[in-house]
Amino acid sequence: MESKYFILFLLSFYSFIPKISSTTTNVINTNQFITDGDTIVSSGGTFELGFFSPNGSTTRYIGIWYKQILPYVQTIVWVANREKPLTNTSSVVLKVNKPGILALLNDKNETIWSTNTSRSVQNPVAVLLDSGNLVLKDANDDNPENFLWQSFNFPTDTHLPDMKLGKNFKTGIEVYLLAWKNDNDPTPGEYSLHIDPTGYPQGLIRHGARVSARAGPWNGLRWSGAPAPLQTQTSIYTFQFVFNEEEVYYSFSLINNSLLTRLVLTNNGYIQRLTWVDRTKSWHLYLNIPLDTCDTYSLCGAYGSCVIDSSPVCGCLDKFEPKYPQNWQTGDWSQGCVRKTPIDCNKEHGFLKYSGIKLPETNNSQYNKTMTLEGCRQVCSTNCSCTAYSSLDISNGDKGCLFWSGELIDIRELSGRGQDIYIRMDSSDIGKFKQKEDRDSTRGEFLVVGGSDSARPDSVHVHT
Ligand SMILES: *[C@@H]1O[C@H](CO)[C@@H](O)[C@H](O)[C@H]1NC(C)=O
Ligand SMILES: *[C@@H]1O[C@H](CO)[C@@H](O)[C@H](O)[C@H]1NC(C)=O
Ligand SMILES: *[C@@H]1O[C@H](CO)[C@@H](O)[C@H](O)[C@H]1NC(C)=O
Ligand SMILES: *[C@@H]1O[C@H](CO)[C@@H](O)[C@H](O)[C@H]1NC(C)=O
Ligand SMILES: *[C@@H]1O[C@H](CO)[C@@H](O)[C@H](O)[C@H]1NC(C)=O
Ligand SMILES: *[C@@H]1O[C@H](CO)[C@@H](O)[C@H](O)[C@H]1NC(C)=O
Ligand SMILES: *[C@@H]1O[C@H](CO)[C@@H](O)[C@H](O)[C@H]1NC(C)=O
Ligand SMILES: *[C@@H]1O[C@H](CO)[C@@H](O)[C@H](O)[C@H]1NC(C)=O
Repeated sequence: MESKYFILFLLSFYSFIPKISSTTTNVINTNQFITDGDTIVSSGGTFELGFFSPNGSTTRYIGIWYKQILPYVQTIVWVANREKPLTNTSSVVLKVNKPGILALLNDKNETIWSTNTSRSVQNPVAVLLDSGNLVLKDANDDNPENFLWQSFNFPTDTHLPDMKLGKNFKTGIEVYLLAWKNDNDPTPGEYSLHIDPTGYPQGLIRHGARVSARAGPWNGLRWSGAPAPLQTQTSIYTFQFVFNEEEVYYSFSLINNSLLTRLVLTNNGYIQRLTWVDRTKSWHLYLNIPLDTCDTYSLCGAYGSCVIDSSPVCGCLDKFEPKYPQNWQTGDWSQGCVRKTPIDCNKEHGFLKYSGIKLPETNNSQYNKTMTLEGCRQVCSTNCSCTAYSSLDISNGDKGCLFWSGELIDIRELSGRGQDIYIRMDSSDIGKFKQKEDRDSTRGEFLVVGGSDSARPDSVHVHT
């Protein structure tokens, strides 16, 4: 013990900067540093930053945890040096250097971990905000746009309230969760959670480079594949999805700051929402995604539809049949289904409405935020590579369009909460539903097109 303090004394003398005082502060400035055992606490007392060891381990990490519930559980929400664990912290310091970086340094002044920035400020400080965001900024500048660096842009496995998960198109920074390797090892694991803007933005869980589960596109109310009870406001939190030219993100906010909730990506690829229950002094599981087998990415292949209360769960969409019936019968559904009647764009064809589904993979989609559903149909029907279309935003009637090209994958049935999609089909498959016929004079084709939706019976999924 004594030698430790002697070294610290030497170090502080040598560096001409004092160790942070024991009085609680939320700031590290260039005149202080912290060592193992010291912490800083956010101004409202919600979060604390310091050194910790995961359970069953003696390695040390810099992390952030909830201060309020520390007497009951140490819940780590962020880890700095997750790829560079320390085995000996006796001469390690965390300090702020000019031009504005926070660095973990050993006794040789070598950097073990640090933040980065492309700018510099006069008086850099690291501040732990009460949101749990650790920011590097000028001491006198509280404008978030001027932050040099913030941990909310580099989360580990936890999405905290007011953190924007997604992508900023101006800075190119993608904010995503990267799971721990296991419960006791914050080393980056195999799973990551993204709001992927490819095509049209979707929530995705990746396992390495592959997609393991997909929330689907945002439909103005929720992710297309979200569980039923989700609304933009629950009794605990509100959430929002923003997608414009500058950024795309998903975030949530607490209604009452004294009720804690967080989203975690577990090391085995689940997204869990946990809420703190004061009565039991523990975290309770509020939501667990993937929900079930049908959330397994593309389980039933192209034009296959997963129905959780059927056995087997995979079937083909109505008017489709297994591409390889023998493989299909053995439970190998991955090659999916094909139309019973192939379509030929030079012949009569149109769009058949399928209802109650989770919209398919949108990574190859195009969209328009302002068009009407009728406009979507017109655009899609004049372009043979457009396979299907749907309304983009159902929060207030139908607004905008999503257009698919190529095969439709990762469809599931969601009774009572699914959406409508209109799939290009041969006229013989639509004939009995047709409401109105249009002659497209410019192309000399006869198109069978969808009429008023209300008059049209919803198709049903048929399991083959
Ligand atoms: C270690 O496990 C105990 C008991 O489960 C828990 O209270 C504590 O918060 C855990 N610590 C960390 C750092 O995970
Ligand atoms: C930790 O490092 C210090 C100096 O850097 C050294 O004196 C001490 O013996 C080390 N402790 C262990 C357990 O290795
Ligand atoms: C440690 O390194 C920083 C830059 O990384 C430098 O500014 C500082 O002077 C160095 N301190 C010592 C004691 O060498
Ligand atoms: C900081 O480092 C991260 C990776 O650790 C990198 O993605 C980012 O572009 C860097 N930012 C700056 C400003 O250099
Ligand atoms: C927030 O929750 C706390 C604890 O449940 C309660 O005492 C307080 O009245 C709530 N505040 C508001 C504004 O609802
Ligand atoms: C879209 O996803 C499919 C299936 O996961 C993949 O084969 C394809 O390469 C992806 N396309 C793009 C543009 O990301
Ligand atoms: C969406 O459609 C409207 C009406 O057809 C059109 O004016 C607008 O340019 C389209 N927007 C995009 C981004 O294609
Ligand atoms: C037809 O649709 C495809 C795929 O959606 C798109 O790449 C192409 O630009 C469209 N062609 C026209 C003429 O709109």
